[in-house]
Amino acid sequence: MKSSPPPGDASRGDGAGQRHKLWGGRFKAGPAAALTAVNRSIEVDFRLWPYDIWGSQGWAEALASAGVLTAEESSTIRIGLEGVAKRFEAGELPIDSDEDVHTMIDRLLHEEIGDVASKLHTGRSRNDQVATATRLWIIGSIDSIETELRALQAVMLRHAESLTDAVMPAYTHLQRAQPVSAAHWMLSHFWPLQRDYDRIMFASIAASSLPLGSGAIAGSAYRVPREELRERLGFLRLSDNSIDAVGDRDFIADMLYAISMLGMHLSRLAEDMILFGSSEFGFLRFGDAFTTGSSMMPQKRNPDVMEIARGFGARSLGALTTLLATLKGLPSGYNKDLQDDKRILFDAVDGVLLVLPAVAGALAECAFQVDVMERAVSSGMMATDLADYLVGKGVSFRDAHGAVGSLVRAAEEAECELDELPPERFKGAHAMFGADAREWLDARASIARRDVAGGTGPNAVRKQIEAARAVLEEKPEP
Ligand code: ARG
Repeated sequence: MKSSPPPGDASRGDGAGQRHKLWGGRFKAGPAAALTAVNRSIEVDFRLWPYDIWGSQGWAEALASAGVLTAEESSTIRIGLEGVAKRFEAGELPIDSDEDVHTMIDRLLHEEIGDVASKLHTGRSRNDQVATATRLWIIGSIDSIETELRALQAVMLRHAESLTDAVMPAYTHLQRAQPVSAAHWMLSHFWPLQRDYDRIMFASIAASSLPLGSGAIAGSAYRVPREELRERLGFLRLSDNSIDAVGDRDFIADMLYAISMLGMHLSRLAEDMILFGSSEFGFLRFGDAFTTGSSMMPQKRNPDVMEIARGFGARSLGALTTLLATLKGLPSGYNKDLQDDKRILFDAVDGVLLVLPAVAGALAECAFQVDVMERAVSSGMMATDLADYLVGKGVSFRDAHGAVGSLVRAAEEAECELDELPPERFKGAHAMFGADAREWLDARASIARRDVAGGTGPNAVRKQIEAARAVLEEKPEP
């Protein structure tokens, strides 16, 4: 009987060029085209190459320490991997038989240094390899996200600095509630981003646990010095359990959680901006560089960036739920479902890196219409202040609330503002109302009274601006 070489044999020609595989010896027949297509992840994981090479260089050194490779073999492999990195930098592209980035690097290493390359995969599996590279990739992506996040916070701070004297309505239930300094509103979007910053930092710390040395599931059979490897690769900790280490994607969930929280905050900022930028509100005008026109309606100026940011909130949440749904049903150890973790992760990180600078740009060129904002503050919004006035005269807040409520109703019936009611109506609502009551219907006075830490009063906002500045300058908060 004529026997053909197994599909895993690198010497086998299959008409589509030389096939280089990391497995295949136990198979008689080759894989179906549909298996190859569905199994292939190189389009997604290609970008892991710098981290996989870095991890492989560490592994080559660890194998020498374990006595598996001679110092010379280890050095040949590491230098070979440098050559592979140079080829990637020069634009090397995958070929059809490259199942994933690990296979591609292995193929290129063979091309660089020949057979000694085959020794690198000793005691290692793609299971601990991919987890290592993905962790390194996350750690490597943190800087750019943080830089973009900080840039957006800086735009917010600049606006806040110029809006300290601007007065605008604050809304609850999207109904006019109380007047605030516009700087206070702007900074209400700054602090959520600060929490996101901390969450992203946490995600990078969570990623910093080294799985390499876990092998496929049971740990490496060679005495590799994992502690040295950890130090060389720059991880903070070693994984504690090889079964856990190869199937653990908590660190990706942590990152996706941080990104989806950021996505949610960007979405809420975007929603405020879209509303306030509408003709109905008119609180701000968008600029030319970050808005779009309509192909039909010549007058249109659309805040697409903000809408895309709002859409990204949904997409990032989808990424987190997709990963968690994938993880919840998995038996322990590595399962191929996990291959899609990177598609989800990369999409979320790419998305946030596109959205953040666009939102920062769109916000930076917004012109706030302080007169329009101030005109939107009606005296009814100081109803709480009026109740506080009565409290100052010894009335209980409950009674004061009721008395002011009756004034609000009277104004509504008379179709006028609270401050347009005749003085006798005030006296009628409560005997303790004096001639000075109307002064409590002034928006700026209302704002000034709220000078509690974290409030909208001028000193509180000034301190808030200082605290925000300190955050951006990486100084401890005053
Ligand atoms: N491309 C694979 C992934 O991303 C690498 C790990 C493959 N492991 C395996 N046993 N087939 O998950």
